Amino acid sequence: KELEKIELIKKNIGLYPDFPKAGVLFRDTCTILRQPNAFQALKEVLVQCVRVHFVETECIGGLDARGFLIGPIIALELRIPFIPIRKRGKLPGKVTTEEYTKEYGKDAVEIQDESVTAGAKILLVDDLLATGGSLQASCNLIEKCYGEVIGCLVIAEIENLHGRAQIPVPLHSIVKY
Ligand code: PRP
Ligand code: MG
Repeated sequence: KELEKIELIKKNIGLYPDFPKAGVLFRDTCTILRQPNAFQALKEVLVQCVRVHFVETECIGGLDARGFLIGPIIALELRIPFIPIRKRGKLPGKVTTEEYTKEYGKDAVEIQDESVTAGAKILLVDDLLATGGSLQASCNLIEKCYGEVIGCLVIAEIENLHGRAQIPVPLHSIVKY
């Protein structure tokens, strides 16, 4: 049953060669949302994963932008808060920022200070793990705000980029490439 769901999820991840540049095979997780059966399977697999592997989760933190597509449905199902981790300059109020280096130049993630309770056990979610830069920076960001990242959960992992090695907490991926 679980394997059938994972197959359905995998089948509905779009493949786009040469995007965003020549030689890159873009894996588009948004295509899952076009198929309600696949989206339902995804929700069930993600929620089950939290219940089995990350039982102590008190709060879901989702990464801008595609982590926002899955984080809130997991959080709502578990009746726990969802907090957005956004790219720089999008959040109002007092924020904490963590800069990180990407292939071309710098980027930064931000969170509203009031959204993190000191010691809160947070599970970070995103659609994809590539180099691991985004999730690593998000782990550092939560630490700066005195939250505790207990793990990371992604739909897909590009294994040959070794992003997993950058992540200081247990990481689960549903589909591996
Ligand atoms: C993509 C993807 C992950 C990240 C993975 O997001 O959704 O968030 O890259 O890459 P990494 O492991 O090398 O950090 P992107 O920054 O392209 O933006 P989006 O989610 O706003 O589309
Ligand atoms: Mg993203």
